[in-house]
Amino acid sequence: MSLARSPCRPPGLTRAVLFAVVLVGLLCYYRSSGPPNAVFFQQARPLTTSSHPIDELIAGAESSFREVLKKESHDLETAAAQYRERRGRHPPPGFDVWFKFAQEKNAVMVEDFFDQIYHDLGPFWGLPPGVIRREADNFDMTIKVRNQTATAGSDWFWTKIWLNMTSTIEHMLPDMDLPLNAMDEPRIVAPWEEVNRLMDIERAARKITPTEEVVTHFQTLPEHPDVDVQSRNRNFTQTRPFWQVAIRGCPPDSLARKAAQLELHGQTPAISLTHTTPHTYKGYISNFTLSGDFCHQPDLQALHGMMISPLSVSESQVFSPMFGGSKLPTNNEILLPAPMYWNEEERFTGGGATGSPWTEKLNKVIWRGVATGGTNTADNWRGFQRHRFVAMANGTKVSNAESWTEVPENWAMPTTQYNLAAQEEGQLGEWTKEWADAGFVDLMCKPIEANATCSYTGSHFEIQKGLPMAKQFDFKYLPDIDGNSFSGRYRGFLMSTSLPIKATIFREWHDSRLMPWIHFVPMDNRFMDFYGIMEYFLGYTGKDKNVPAHDEQAQKIASAGQEWANKVLRKDDMQIYVLRLLLEYARLSDDQREKLGFVDDLLR
Ligand SMILES: *[C@@H]1O[C@H](CO)[C@@H](O)[C@H](O)[C@H]1NC(C)=O
Ligand SMILES: *[C@@H]1O[C@H](CO)[C@@H](O)[C@H](O)[C@H]1NC(C)=O
Ligand SMILES: *[C@@H]1O[C@H](CO)[C@@H](O)[C@H](O)[C@H]1NC(C)=O
Ligand SMILES: *[C@@H]1O[C@H](CO)[C@@H](O)[C@H](O)[C@H]1NC(C)=O
Ligand SMILES: *[C@@H]1O[C@H](CO)[C@@H](O)[C@H](O)[C@H]1NC(C)=O
Ligand SMILES: *[C@@H]1O[C@H](CO)[C@@H](O)[C@H](O)[C@H]1NC(C)=O
Repeated sequence: MSLARSPCRPPGLTRAVLFAVVLVGLLCYYRSSGPPNAVFFQQARPLTTSSHPIDELIAGAESSFREVLKKESHDLETAAAQYRERRGRHPPPGFDVWFKFAQEKNAVMVEDFFDQIYHDLGPFWGLPPGVIRREADNFDMTIKVRNQTATAGSDWFWTKIWLNMTSTIEHMLPDMDLPLNAMDEPRIVAPWEEVNRLMDIERAARKITPTEEVVTHFQTLPEHPDVDVQSRNRNFTQTRPFWQVAIRGCPPDSLARKAAQLELHGQTPAISLTHTTPHTYKGYISNFTLSGDFCHQPDLQALHGMMISPLSVSESQVFSPMFGGSKLPTNNEILLPAPMYWNEEERFTGGGATGSPWTEKLNKVIWRGVATGGTNTADNWRGFQRHRFVAMANGTKVSNAESWTEVPENWAMPTTQYNLAAQEEGQLGEWTKEWADAGFVDLMCKPIEANATCSYTGSHFEIQKGLPMAKQFDFKYLPDIDGNSFSGRYRGFLMSTSLPIKATIFREWHDSRLMPWIHFVPMDNRFMDFYGIMEYFLGYTGKDKNVPAHDEQAQKIASAGQEWANKVLRKDDMQIYVLRLLLEYARLSDDQREKLGFVDDLLR
């Protein structure tokens, strides 16, 4: 999410305030628990070297989050006023019904939490409503809403789940058609230039219509609207590598658009922090939204299965409506909560278990999963994110690299920027062995081999027994790494008493309501910050070097994340989000869209 003001390069004043906060915090700490002040001041090192960058990131995030929460609205008038201020338009008709629905479900009502909707829908103001209606209907997998009843023409299981979700709110919905992406992979990437043109139209059309001109009722639609409108040929194609498709949505002067295509032929990918500066502060994520944006990170083309070799590709450059459960930052899908979140399947939720209390958990990291990410082969697996992560969390590999007995196949040692005590003592591998337990349960070989084994990765990874999610909650730390697309475990992780550590290039419906360093720990897609994150939380006791642990901070984020997820990621919240989304979408598909609005609050 983009709530946190980046502490990366704060204006001088902000930084001074941050340090002051840390200073006061330290003073209080030593007053209550430590040596007399005089001694403290004698022994204290300059504050700038004693405060960890993660402390600063947490403090910055906490203060931004407090600001966001101040915006909570408790009545319809305030919510409508905030809407007009943030969106520059009247709310859509039905806003009062939506607000009442949300309030009855005790939702936390902050307009910012719906930002993703406006990001996804904005460019549709540039398409004529008739074209939206025609192309939405003219698709093989759709949900249709007519006369407040939702139906689907397909019984594909994702469609059924989304239909179930839509049906629960159908009595509040106007007529519309929802074309659905039923693939794992996102499909629409219109060129940046085209989206920019559409957004220019959106900005020009944005206005608060005089109250007396406002139309308050949606159109009704025939079964197949606008059959006389020409539906454009979306020309879905299988373009590979997907990187070439994905960067179409990047600005023309971006590093991604200008970079040469990298070819992976069995070599170790280049892993460096060169392109991380815009989204990190002293090596740690300061802008999580930006960290998933590859337009300034051309090296990610060789570091993610989605870019290297997705399982399937069927993509279009035509900007047209399609709903989906996740997407890349440059995709144009309209996000819905992913089916597994609504369906609450056991493998994605832990079956309702949330884990033991923090103090009873193992002070360790657990990761188990399948070697997905796309189609891995002997030539390309070294770039795949899960392979890279599992290798880096393998203490034996790290020790072997430290002693030069095994060259890292698909990862790189952390740079000195992280000042890792264990690494400085030559003990990074030994230390990692103490707390890391990551492994594949299936190597997903191509071609498939018996018993989940693989001729080309089998010597690098040992197949492990699976561990049900509920059992993983016995561990404090849960890294969450993208698979073929986004990782469906994330909601389950957040709702547990353990602490998710998240790296991703995918966007999801909930992104505007989750705050890095408050509700989860963000990690860079190269994972080089992984050891530093763990050193901060676990601490390190070595021969000469000692680094204090920050277990309290970990527990605090884990429990804040759980509490927050139970407030804003409930199925109720998905309904509230989807209702708001579909009211907006219906307005965009309406010939009177410029005049449609909710203004009852202004007429009183
Ligand atoms: C993150 O980066 C984006 C793109 O530069 C920017 O719009 C946004 O404000 C940043 N967010 C934070 C929290 O700094
Ligand atoms: C809409 O549904 C209601 C009851 O659910 C029904 O009475 C009415 O005839 C329907 N209208 C149309 C146009 O189908
Ligand atoms: C959605 O699915 C659940 C679980 O199968 C079922 O109980 C519920 O009735 C369904 N709701 C609708 C509106 O179809
Ligand atoms: C469809 O896409 C392919 C590959 O991008 C392109 O060569 C072809 O001209 C396109 N066809 C149409 C009708 O746009
Ligand atoms: C696969 O595992 C089964 C049971 O452990 C074993 O009997 C079989 O020989 C294995 N197959 C191969 C090809 O290794
Ligand atoms: C860890 O790395 C060693 C050395 O490369 C390898 O033999 C072992 O199978 C790896 N373990 C796992 C769980 O992948």
